[in-house]
Amino acid sequence: MPVARYRAANLAMWDESVDIHVRSDFYGVDRFKAGETTLEPMEPAEMDDVRGKSLLHLQCHFGMDTLSWAREGAIVTGIDFSSAAIQAASRLSEESGVPGRFVESELYDASEVLDEKFDVVYTGIGALCWLPDIRGWSRVVGHFLKPGGVFYILEGHPMMWTLADETAEDPMHIAWPYFETTQPQNPDGWINEEDYSQTGEKLQNTRTFSWGHGLGEIVTALIDEGLRIEFLHEHRVCGWRAFPWMVKGEDGMWRVPNHPERLPLMWSLRAVKEA
Ligand SMILES: C[S@@+](CC[C@H](N)C(=O)[O-])C[C@H]1O[C@@H](n2cnc3c(N)ncnc32)[C@H](O)[C@@H]1O
Repeated sequence: MPVARYRAANLAMWDESVDIHVRSDFYGVDRFKAGETTLEPMEPAEMDDVRGKSLLHLQCHFGMDTLSWAREGAIVTGIDFSSAAIQAASRLSEESGVPGRFVESELYDASEVLDEKFDVVYTGIGALCWLPDIRGWSRVVGHFLKPGGVFYILEGHPMMWTLADETAEDPMHIAWPYFETTQPQNPDGWINEEDYSQTGEKLQNTRTFSWGHGLGEIVTALIDEGLRIEFLHEHRVCGWRAFPWMVKGEDGMWRVPNHPERLPLMWSLRAVKEA
């Protein structure tokens, strides 16, 4: 199947999921409107001070994380290939009174619709797995950063995404590729009757395709774009229940039961574009 067909299937699912997510308790639009941030605790702690800085959020979905950075003081722009997501993000900005600009664009074509550079480029959880080509992604990151600009990412760990699903006999065994492959991780696609926001609403567009990218592949691709890595953290905690076997700690974060030291669940990185 050509990449365009995988992309079309993914876009149909993302377009359809936006309304469900806006209504879901998982995303908590009401809580956001009441002033809650949707950023994970380590994000503002690890990111530079963003006050007064222009910030580009790649794959922004319906803008809650983007607007949370605006609440931290950034002047924010979000891009996403889903027109439904971009409309919902603009609506959320208006309704919450938190300023933000939202632009519909395929990630790989973003330089065709945005003709400017940013102080900060940001990517949040659940973004990279939808991209077939990590080097194409790192070129986009490098393109949009001003010299001296900061790139920050928090993501699900690629090792976690190699694990078998919850229905397998041993859900902790490795079932899917770690490294980037030409074909999606599961060439047949993932079938999800419902999406991860668990509202119980059924999806029409149930089949999606995703790709693994090894941590070394990601980091090396960023270095090759002239980014100097300041840190790479691998986290024992996960911001959401990615697998049913995860246990929740008092801090609200999810962990591997009994042996959190055995598997990284998220990673974060900050880098500066060399002048
Ligand atoms: C899990 S969401 C990111 C979520 C974000 N961290 C949040 O929870 O608000 C992934 C986003 O990537 C977008 N996306 C997927 N493939 C894309 C592509 N090729 N170009 C641009 N956006 C894409 C989807 O539309 C979706 O909004």
